[in-house]
Amino acid sequence: MIRINENYLKLKASYLFTDIARRVANYAAKNPGREIIRLGIGDVTCPLPPACIAAFHKAVEEMGAEKTFRGYGPEQGYQFLREAIAAHDFQERGIRIEPDEIFVSDGAKCDTGNFQELFSLDLAIAVPDPVYPVYVDTNVMAGRTGENRDGRYQGLIYLDSTESNGFVPMVPKERADLIYLCFPNNPTGATADKHRLAEWVRYAAENGSLILFDAAYESFIRDDGLPHSIFEIEGAREVAVEFRSFSKTAGFTGTRCAFTVIPRECRAYAGTGEPVHLRELWLRRQTTKFNGVSYPVQRAAEAVYSEEGRRQVRELGDYYLKNAGLIRERLAGIGFSCFGGLNAPYIWVKCGSDSWEFFDRLLEHAGVVCTPGAGFGSCGEGYVRLSAFNSRENVLAALDRIEDALK
Ligand code: MLT
Repeated sequence: MIRINENYLKLKASYLFTDIARRVANYAAKNPGREIIRLGIGDVTCPLPPACIAAFHKAVEEMGAEKTFRGYGPEQGYQFLREAIAAHDFQERGIRIEPDEIFVSDGAKCDTGNFQELFSLDLAIAVPDPVYPVYVDTNVMAGRTGENRDGRYQGLIYLDSTESNGFVPMVPKERADLIYLCFPNNPTGATADKHRLAEWVRYAAENGSLILFDAAYESFIRDDGLPHSIFEIEGAREVAVEFRSFSKTAGFTGTRCAFTVIPRECRAYAGTGEPVHLRELWLRRQTTKFNGVSYPVQRAAEAVYSEEGRRQVRELGDYYLKNAGLIRERLAGIGFSCFGGLNAPYIWVKCGSDSWEFFDRLLEHAGVVCTPGAGFGSCGEGYVRLSAFNSRENVLAALDRIEDALK
């Protein structure tokens, strides 16, 4: 008999966004003439920046000529891209990160999902609530939790992110080994200032914990006082790993490129008590299980750091942030409390009722897709997430329809 990994049976039947897609498909089948506006999953709509497209084309041409053709690339990513990332995302901001501490990959979802593989199964895992479901589900699959009871997995430490703490969780009283944090936050759009991040870094140093810091939405930060990286905090190099992505920054959701930063000082321990460098462990994992991101895609990502690339990426971010501002303003105008959406592309709307019911209402009466807060955890109940990733035209049309449906 072929036995399965029974941990999978603890999971909810389907991934949140798959579940939503199925509901939307049912609605579309029943309402064939109705144009649906999707402000649910955070998927970008604007084309790639012209600087990326030019670099992409050039690299594809290189792949077509014998002299410039390339086969397998380095598993850690091409040096040209890792140097550009280290220089522009970190060193220019006064943050000490070297190219050999950067691992290029095909997505922050894969990296945040796979990273837990490096650790033993008996660790105490802390996750915010609400949370990007990948952090939780991958630990469930690995067998680090018990069953799901009343929307929470037994054995996980849930860090409540609520209106009262500005959606930035407080450090827990108990000891956690691995802590997942995401700022600017998905789903709440909240940001954490240096002071709040420093509390987490101090907690990690005192407790021998590791922070897995998801900064996939970093490029939407416009407030000069906010940290762009956890490595802006003193002591973070010993206790944190950071995940970044080109998906939302430069429209790469379909192109696929991201990276993970593991400082040389970052360590965990073998059963013998011997320290093990996480950088080396991840390199070992990636060289076995991953063959790198394609050369043209890495050239396109490198172009994000060219002068024109940086300008274009900034404009792209500004475009979605303008959408976010419009969503906030118009929903506040019809009486909803809105959070996020200022340095983040997500708006966390207090819907004041069952969030799946609100999702159905919005779909049924406005033909607009949102993401129910309950899908991100029990503290998400009573909220829905609206994504600013869509054309201005669609966002404005969605807002008109929402106003008509809910006023
Ligand atoms: C989301 O909508 O939360 C994101 O698109 C998910 C992701 O980036 O994987």
